[in-house]
Amino acid sequence: MNLLTYIMHLAGTGAATYYISTQIRDSKTRPNVLAGLQLSEASSVPFLSLLSERAAKEGNTWLAEKLAKHALDETKHSRIFAHALKQMNKQAVEDQPHLEAESTSKQKPSPFFLAYFDGYTLEELKPTVINWDVFLGSTYILELDSSKDYKTMAKVLPENELSTRNLKKGLLSIAEDEASHAAYLYEGMMQRMSINQVQKLVDDWRIRKVNSIFRMATSVFQNDNNARSISQDIEIIKNT
Ligand SMILES: [Fe+2]
Ligand SMILES: [Fe+2]
Repeated sequence: MNLLTYIMHLAGTGAATYYISTQIRDSKTRPNVLAGLQLSEASSVPFLSLLSERAAKEGNTWLAEKLAKHALDETKHSRIFAHALKQMNKQAVEDQPHLEAESTSKQKPSPFFLAYFDGYTLEELKPTVINWDVFLGSTYILELDSSKDYKTMAKVLPENELSTRNLKKGLLSIAEDEASHAAYLYEGMMQRMSINQVQKLVDDWRIRKVNSIFRMATSVFQNDNNARSISQDIEIIKNT
């Protein structure tokens, strides 16, 4: 990684963390952040479970077990956010069964995802065929950064309410899990290649992350006016 990429990494990560920290600290914007996190944590579970099955079929029991545990952890993370939202009488829009049933179009990949995996087709990124090095390198960077982001979010939450104190604890436990995911992914890379090759792979994905954060930031600014809320009040239906 060259110096410019490194500086852009610090600036991009810093800006993204600053933005999400201000959003989670403010009780008005907090539900939307939590809903986004709940959905993104849950969205990785089917992918990880299928990868675990594939690793088992390929005879890599070590990786199959790590991936199965990873999928369980992400399910747990999603539940932590769902619980925090429930305490605020909110729930994520896509968590509502009636909306799910009505939705006809499949979830579109985010601008971040498209930029991060630039040059790969969606077909190539499916769990049944994805190149293991691509999976390990790309996911390692995301897990490593998310562990730091969750720690920062926990730090900025106010401590004066029981619900935010609980959320803080939840965020810290998630941060620990994400760090353990990064650790096994790194170990997975070390099992497959030399330390120099690992470093090169990690650097490549770091550069992709930096570039995609900047591209996503541009797209967010452009679409700011069309932003929609992804959390909704829970409707309490009285039985009459
Ligand atoms: Fe997670
Ligand atoms: Fe994770």
